[in-house]
Amino acid sequence: MKSLIQKLVETTGPSGFEHSIRDLIRDEIDDAADAISVDALGSLIARKGTKTDDGMRVMISAHIDEIGLMATHIDSNGFIRFTNIGGINPLTCFGGRVKFMDGTQGVIGMDGLESGKVPKLSDLFIDVGASSRDDCPVKVGDVCGFERPFLDLGKRLVAKSMDDRIAAAIAIEGLKRLESTPHEVHFVFSTQEEVGLRGATTAAYGVDPDVGFAVDVTRSGDTPRRLTKMETALGDGPAIKVRDSSFIADPRLVDWMVQTAKDAEIPYQLEVLESGGTDGRAIQLTRSGVPAGCISIACRYIHSPSEMVDSDDVENAVRLLVALLSNPINLG
Ligand code: CO
Ligand code: ZN
Repeated sequence: MKSLIQKLVETTGPSGFEHSIRDLIRDEIDDAADAISVDALGSLIARKGTKTDDGMRVMISAHIDEIGLMATHIDSNGFIRFTNIGGINPLTCFGGRVKFMDGTQGVIGMDGLESGKVPKLSDLFIDVGASSRDDCPVKVGDVCGFERPFLDLGKRLVAKSMDDRIAAAIAIEGLKRLESTPHEVHFVFSTQEEVGLRGATTAAYGVDPDVGFAVDVTRSGDTPRRLTKMETALGDGPAIKVRDSSFIADPRLVDWMVQTAKDAEIPYQLEVLESGGTDGRAIQLTRSGVPAGCISIACRYIHSPSEMVDSDDVENAVRLLVALLSNPINLG
């Protein structure tokens, strides 16, 4: 699974520009899905299984976009000013490397580094090695992602886009390992999550599920000074979301997910995230409303070029996903 994860995290695909990552995933799941389609916003939707009397139409959503930058202005010396695509902390930018969709690479610089002040995004620029506006290969509106190789630390895995390619890996693996299901399952690889859950919003409307889950990363509270007041920790199992600031998971689904994890002897933790949201909100609020939940992977340094997850959590999330989809859904 690590080689799949490496391919997924090293592919560039900021929100709205997910064609490369979508093509890669389509190749991965081609044989495992019963049918594959792409909707107007570019979300890849893979159906598996036939709905039986015990079954439901289930939507699983993992977003395939990542945070990135978009060129807003190129100055006479060929420096590129940019705006953010999704939540970018300027602290994580300086000295970083970026890759545009056409393969052009560059570095993020700033003026006045010696002042020691924390930069704003507007203090930063991208330098692709151009010396004038004319020889700069980047034009206004071009987008780039952060560039950082996958790092395998054994138990812990690090990459620029664990958010949310690790969930794409879990969904792909779950789709492949799912042998029999009473449900009609729609694995949605959604677009534009980082700019407001847009891909999942239209995909959920199109799929019209009876129930749905997002799979996404969440914060972890286990860094040295524990300043993030969260119970979630790397290695304690996939997290079953109770709430975040975008939605309250259906409590009946939470109970059923917990019971399923216990029955299958899969470690799990409960998650309350005070700021942040997932595709779960888009599923829950589609049409006249859908019971929705979320499986989360605890992740350190979210929205930095070095997001870290635990490989056992990843494996256990796949097991939990397969267990959930292999059984009838009990809403109590
Ligand atoms: Co994110
Ligand atoms: Zn995410």
